Amino acid sequence: MTPRQIALVQHSFALLDPYSEAFSQAVYGRLFQLDAGLKAIFPRDIARQGARLMQMLGVAVHGLVCRHELVPVLRSLGARHRGYGLRQYDFETLAQALNDSLRARLGEAFDAELQQAWHEALRFIAAEMLQGMLEADTEPQPIGHIDVLL
Ligand code: HEM
Repeated sequence: MTPRQIALVQHSFALLDPYSEAFSQAVYGRLFQLDAGLKAIFPRDIARQGARLMQMLGVAVHGLVCRHELVPVLRSLGARHRGYGLRQYDFETLAQALNDSLRARLGEAFDAELQQAWHEALRFIAAEMLQGMLEADTEPQPIGHIDVLL
């Protein structure tokens, strides 16, 4: 991502701040419209989930300037997602839901350049989370697991 793209994403994310709750609900509404099957893996309290998503997106968006610090955070978030039952392509569905919600909220300000900048940011976030999921998969099993098998 270029410094300009990072600045564009950060600035537009800051614009969402006063509408954070409504925005996150719009994202999940759109996500479930795109893939109703995903409802099953989320908890019932989608408001709480929305707050967690926005908080973590904020961390990621602010961290784009300092990627070496952000990467371990995203990988560990990805590793935690391993147990949630999502598939690799769910990241694309979420990116689409975020894209559509950004367009609905920001209107004309969500122009081609801003859309491309968000696309790059979400691609980076998803790639690092997926890497974290993969690494967690190849970690050796703890001893306790072997005891259970015996
Ligand atoms: C931009 C990428 C994403 C971010 C920033 C993100 C953020 C988060 C955060 C902060 C949590 C709270 C728990 C934790 O910290 O481990 C969480 C949980 C969860 N996420 Fe994500 N997530 C992302 C992508 C996805 C995708 C693509 C899916 C599936 C469509 C997903 C499904 C879930 C589920 C099912 C939970 C567990 C909820 C629960 O049972 O409490 N996430 N996510």
